[in-house]
Amino acid sequence: MSTKTPPYWKGTNVVLDAGWGDSGKGKFVDIGSQYADVVVRWAGGPNAGHTVKNEHGEFKFHLMPSGIFNTLCILGDTVVIDPHVLLEEIDEMESRGFPLTPLNLLISADASLILEWHKHRDALTETARGGKKLGTTGRGIGPAYSDRTERTGLKMFHLYESNFEKLFEREFRWQSKLCKLMGGDHEAFDYDGMLAHLKNARERLKPMVQNVIPLIWKMHDAGKNVLGEGAQGSLLDLDLGTTPYVTSSHPTIAGFGIATGIHANKVKRVLAAVRAYGARVGDGPFPTELFDKMGEHIREVGHEYGTTTGRPRRCGWFDIIATWYGARVAGATHIALTKLDVLDDVEEIKVCTAYEVDGQKYDARNLPTIKPRFLDKAQPVYKTFPGWQVSTRSVKKFKELPIKAQKYVLFLEKHVELPIKFVSVGPDREDTIAR
Ligand code: GDP
Ligand code: IMO
Ligand code: MG
Repeated sequence: MSTKTPPYWKGTNVVLDAGWGDSGKGKFVDIGSQYADVVVRWAGGPNAGHTVKNEHGEFKFHLMPSGIFNTLCILGDTVVIDPHVLLEEIDEMESRGFPLTPLNLLISADASLILEWHKHRDALTETARGGKKLGTTGRGIGPAYSDRTERTGLKMFHLYESNFEKLFEREFRWQSKLCKLMGGDHEAFDYDGMLAHLKNARERLKPMVQNVIPLIWKMHDAGKNVLGEGAQGSLLDLDLGTTPYVTSSHPTIAGFGIATGIHANKVKRVLAAVRAYGARVGDGPFPTELFDKMGEHIREVGHEYGTTTGRPRRCGWFDIIATWYGARVAGATHIALTKLDVLDDVEEIKVCTAYEVDGQKYDARNLPTIKPRFLDKAQPVYKTFPGWQVSTRSVKKFKELPIKAQKYVLFLEKHVELPIKFVSVGPDREDTIAR
């Protein structure tokens, strides 16, 4: 696209998250998409909340790809789409002066739809877990993906089939039956209201819905700049994450391949956003979680409240073992270390360098598993760093960071064993140090 594209963003690249989500992917997709010919969002659905802060203002996107200000964006095959949420976001963009057309947004015909019953089933399943709830976002993600793997449920292209009303009626009956079996309120769904809403969505989205893979391949094969936008984080991967405390999709590089048919070995760079400390929202193991004033301090300074649900995020220290593992399964080639500025006021910063379980020490290299049966027992072993206690917010070059901050970053780089390509010191596009 642009002749000024920095070498880093040339070709087919991916931005994802190597933690439990919310590490600042949205910001880096916004940055990278300035040079992209196309952005492909591939994971999750409206459980995501991606913040973009640029010259147009601040935006919190759930389904809208974060590259939307800069280039053509695609919602890929494996994104689960709640038409209500998507239309709301399209309306918001339009009201803020960004009309959407097929020139800036395309939607895969094969994306699965999230409808009312998925949200209902999500809530019923959480209740059925008793004291072991996952703390889902309640957006119907798990049930929508279960239908997809069951090879049932409605997809985008069904809206345009000549027998759509028949398909909807069959789906309505089936889902009502399911909800009844689950002990839910199967009469809560409004047949006419839902159908009318879907017909409205069908009309509004029609110009944007198409088979997207041929276009993605054409651009990839022509050496255009294709940027994959991940969602969630690799520690939330259905299989390789802290299962069952995970989401129902594949936020790793494998997920990009499933959505696009572009194999990982054809992807040039995989930039993984990683916070300069630890955090997660929802339930599940988190060995370095802080339950004291320091945890509260990080939450307040870092504004660690869920972008989608508003829930307070659990905060803690940087965990080298979980990050090393998360970056590895993500397929990361580089790290974007985010939110370093959040630690500016902290007197002493800790980093978890090993776990102790049943009197034995484990590091990233001999981690037996990341699953709760092990992680729940892990006692973090910390190394302490002196804080730099000056603002890093306006710093533009790595060498201009306080020496103590540089040492902290270099320590993380050495032990995560991946180059830290970017250091982020604020939410704005400009608050970014490239190395
Ligand atoms: P995503 O889901 O990975 O895109 O991240 P979220 O948008 O859910 O959460 C990241 C939050 O941190 C957002 O509010 C961003 O504006 C903010 N943010 C991103 N990078 C930085 C940074 O370097 N410093 C600070 N203070 N905030 C940041
Ligand atoms: P972004 O893209 C953080 C978490 C939920 C819950 C678990 C399962 O903004 O980083 P789900 O609704 O997906 O069935 O919930 O996954 N989760 C996220 N946490 N960021 C996200 O997205 C998340 N998407 C899902 O909190 O623990
Ligand atoms: Mg988020």
